[in-house]
Amino acid sequence: MKLDVHTKNSTYPIYLERGVLNRAKELIGEANVFLISDDGVPEKWRTALQKQFPDAPMHVIPQGEGSKCFEVLQAVLKDMLDHHLSRKDTVVALGGGVVGDLSGFAASVYMRGIRYINIPSTMLSMVDSSIGGKTAIDFYGIKNCVGAFWQPAMVLVDADVLSTLNPRLLHEGMAESIKMGMTHDAKLFEIFEREDFMDHMDEIIERSLLVKRGVVERDERESGERKLLNFGHTYGHAYESYYELNRYLHGECVAMGMMTVLKNQELKNRLKKVLDRLQLPTSCDADKEKICQLVNSDKKADHGTVTMVQVDELGKGKLETWDAEMIRKGIGI
Ligand SMILES: NC(=O)c1ccc[n+]([C@@H]2O[C@H](COP(=O)([O-])OP(=O)(O)OC[C@H]3O[C@@H](n4cnc5c(N)ncnc54)[C@H](O)[C@@H]3O)[C@@H](O)[C@H]2O)c1
Ligand SMILES: [Zn+2]
Repeated sequence: MKLDVHTKNSTYPIYLERGVLNRAKELIGEANVFLISDDGVPEKWRTALQKQFPDAPMHVIPQGEGSKCFEVLQAVLKDMLDHHLSRKDTVVALGGGVVGDLSGFAASVYMRGIRYINIPSTMLSMVDSSIGGKTAIDFYGIKNCVGAFWQPAMVLVDADVLSTLNPRLLHEGMAESIKMGMTHDAKLFEIFEREDFMDHMDEIIERSLLVKRGVVERDERESGERKLLNFGHTYGHAYESYYELNRYLHGECVAMGMMTVLKNQELKNRLKKVLDRLQLPTSCDADKEKICQLVNSDKKADHGTVTMVQVDELGKGKLETWDAEMIRKGIGI
């Protein structure tokens, strides 16, 4: 299946198809490519890509968030230069959000911007980070603080690649799909309520991509509607900072964040059931006062208020402005 994403300056296709990794060369064509992946992406997927481009260099970065930094960016750019990559050439990223964000950013600054193609290999990157054009590295402990909007030229989503992902990573990525169901697509949420939801992986990915595409097309630069995708993320980011990602993954913090912010009790019960089934956490022992402080100091906080996403009716997220008092009440103090 092919979905076109229309942004202000470009239109690019997403190919959602099992086995499409093996058709990368056929779809990319005769371009001169520079491949980037990380050492946590199983070798079988890296080889599947490399063998289609036997002469192309593959730069393999260390896995993990730590690679979204200037040192690794510099090493990648130097390697691109050493291989005489020109303005007409193409970066191809195979990996999760870390590889995608770093490669996209490298492509956006190299020779003032060259083409890049994303082949996401984690659930989170398939349903969320691979489209939308946000690229970045972290700087002085602040996530995604140096980056650019740089749209990919093509995205290849191959759900077969998820077969090697451990269940915890699969489930945390699903938290983003559950979020999109809550804010935009009741039917997507309802898939997760079915006993056999795991048999509907392709539909989950497709519906999530449709939500993300729609939002990105309507609000590329996150001035309005795209903020709805931050549902669960305001408290979620506070949980991430509090635990310094030692105990919980991003999607797990989003799961707790959605439970914290959601007011509609009936929806909350339904959400909890879905999250429990995926072993995603729904509460934690964080110090509530500290969480409130972290929410207030969020980089998106504006003059003491925070834009919070709320869902009163399934599939219909809305934006609210919360002050410090509401943030305290939200977490139950
Ligand atoms: N650009 C955006 O719009 C956007 C949106 C959300 C998140 N992000 C970013 O995405 C990053 C997180 O992405 P992620 O969750 O994909 O994490 P990740 O890229 O760190 O991948 C998680 C782990 O899975 C491994 N892996 C990748 N593919 C695999 C596979 N098929 N089988 C087995 N293991 C595999 C990786 O090596 C890594 O160790 C964060 O840096 C976050 O800031 C960006
Ligand atoms: Zn997220």
